[in-house]
Order: sequence, then C-alpha cells, then structure tokens
Amino acid sequence: MRFSTSTLMALVAAVATYASPVAKRQSSSIDDVTILNYALTLEHLENAFYAGALAKFDAAAFKAAGFPDWVRNRFEQIASHEQSHVDFLSGALGSAAVQPCEYNFPYTDPASFTALSALIENVGVSAYLGAAGSISNAAYLTAAGSILTTEARHQAWVSSAVNKNEAWSGPYDTPVGFNVVYSAVTPFFVSCPASNPALPFKAFPALTYDAATGAVTGASDGQYIALYQGLDIATYPIQGGKVQLPTTQGTAYITATSEKNATLVGDANIVAGPAVIINHFKSNVENPAPGFTSAA
Ligand SMILES: *[C@@H]1O[C@H](CO)[C@@H](O)[C@H](O)[C@H]1NC(C)=O
Repeated sequence: MRFSTSTLMALVAAVATYASPVAKRQSSSIDDVTILNYALTLEHLENAFYAGALAKFDAAAFKAAGFPDWVRNRFEQIASHEQSHVDFLSGALGSAAVQPCEYNFPYTDPASFTALSALIENVGVSAYLGAAGSISNAAYLTAAGSILTTEARHQAWVSSAVNKNEAWSGPYDTPVGFNVVYSAVTPFFVSCPASNPALPFKAFPALTYDAATGAVTGASDGQYIALYQGLDIATYPIQGGKVQLPTTQGTAYITATSEKNATLVGDANIVAGPAVIINHFKSNVENPAPGFTSAA
C-alpha cells in the first residue's frame, strides 16, 4: 500500500472543524440551500475522484497492481453512484447549484487510489452525519440519509473487499462539522469557477500528529488535542510539543483547540486540523468502550 497512515493524515491535515455535541450542531442557522451546495461540493469532488482514476488506470493497470477484474468493475458502479448524487443534488438546487471545480488527487497507481478512496468515503460519511442535524426539510434529510448509507457501503466495500482492512470503526460513526470537513478536502481543490456561490465555511490551518512519538505540529503547549471517535469527543493536553492519546480503533479525527472542556470544542476554539488517525480495527479485539473519559 503506497499510502502510509501518516501520509493519509498529511493529506487530510488541512481539513476543517467539527462542531461538537449534537445540541450545538442543531442550533446551526445554515439554510438548506447552503447545506445542499455543501453536499454537492463534496459529491462533485467524489465524482471527479472516481472518474479521474478510472480514466487514468485501465483494466490492465488494475490487473498489474494485483486486483481482480471485479474491483475496477465495481469502482465503475461507484462512479455512477457519485454521478447520480451530483445529478440529484444539482436538480434539487437548480440554478443555485455549485459547479464542479478542478481537483488534484495524489493517486499515482491503483493501490494509492483505493487507499484514498476508503479515506474519502469515510470523510463523506462523517460530513453527512455532521450536517444531518442542521437540515430543516424532512425530505432533504431522508435524501441525505439515503446518500449517507450508500457512501458507508462504498467505504465498507473498499475497506474490506479491496484493501483487506476493517469496514467500520466501532458501534458509532463519527460526525464532523462543516468547517472540519471543508478543511479536510481543501488540499484536493485546485480552483473553482468564479461563478460558484461562496459557501460560509473556512479551512483551519494544518495539523499533523505522529502516532509513533505523539508529536504534533500546527498546535502548541497550552492547547489541547480534541479526539473525535463515534459520538464522543475528549481533549488531551499538548505538553512539550506532544500529546498522549489513547489507542484508537478504526478511523478517528483530531483537531487542535484552545478549549479544555470537550463539550465546548467547536469552530470558535479550534485552531488547527483535522488530521485523521487510522488504526485498522482488528477482528480479535473488543469494541471501543462506549465513551472516552476526558483528560480534564
Ligand atoms: C463543560 O461545559 C459544559 C457546558 O457548558 C458544562 O456543563 C460543564 O460543567 C463543563 N465541565 C467542566 C469540567 O467545566
């Protein structure tokens, strides 16, 4: 696998923020058109991600990389799903719909593409979960849920059937907020049409975390690393440029924050991130405990 965990973390390091608890997300005043355009922004990206990889790597390239024929065939189906999501959201938005941007995806071969696919699908699941509480129109919420579970199936298929890793993280998937998702995908954008409406989101500065040493860059002593896994957030102090995090399972996100109280972590106090921590969830270990205990 070309992509190490640290490479993947670096890719996502520039991403955005996570509004913490459910109540806070629900108080969002972001309107449905903005949320649909946010979803369409992500679907345009996923659509280009798959279409670009399939154009770049033909059947012979997948075979040479050691993948059976059905892998690329299934990616063609996934690509058609993403096109369908784009068409659906574009239809709902009409003339308000954002148009696709130019992107730069760092896949160099089929293996680095399949690794990045699992990560992007994970971020997609977290994005829809994080946005769900802000959607006002019940029909849009149903549609978003329908797309969300499909992206989760993509993620599960790529992770298990193709990458021979885990298909899930634990009993709960992890919601992340608009700005954290925005920050996560920002590195993939080259430029967008000037006619696209500006969305009210921002990207946080990059955060990196070295799981081997605990070293962090992009945040400093006196600040905290907020760890998001499932529905829980916990904070851990940065000391001597390092943080001691518990062992995570599956895919977790971290941001750096000036706030010690985990229930208050959100856009107002996040200073960097997110980064993604991937510890493949082994079949012979127990589920994560139902909640982290804040280091506070
Ligand atoms: C953290 O913030 C919440 C919400 O304001 C509050 O109820 C709780 O007491 C705070 N916890 C600590 C340890 O200060």
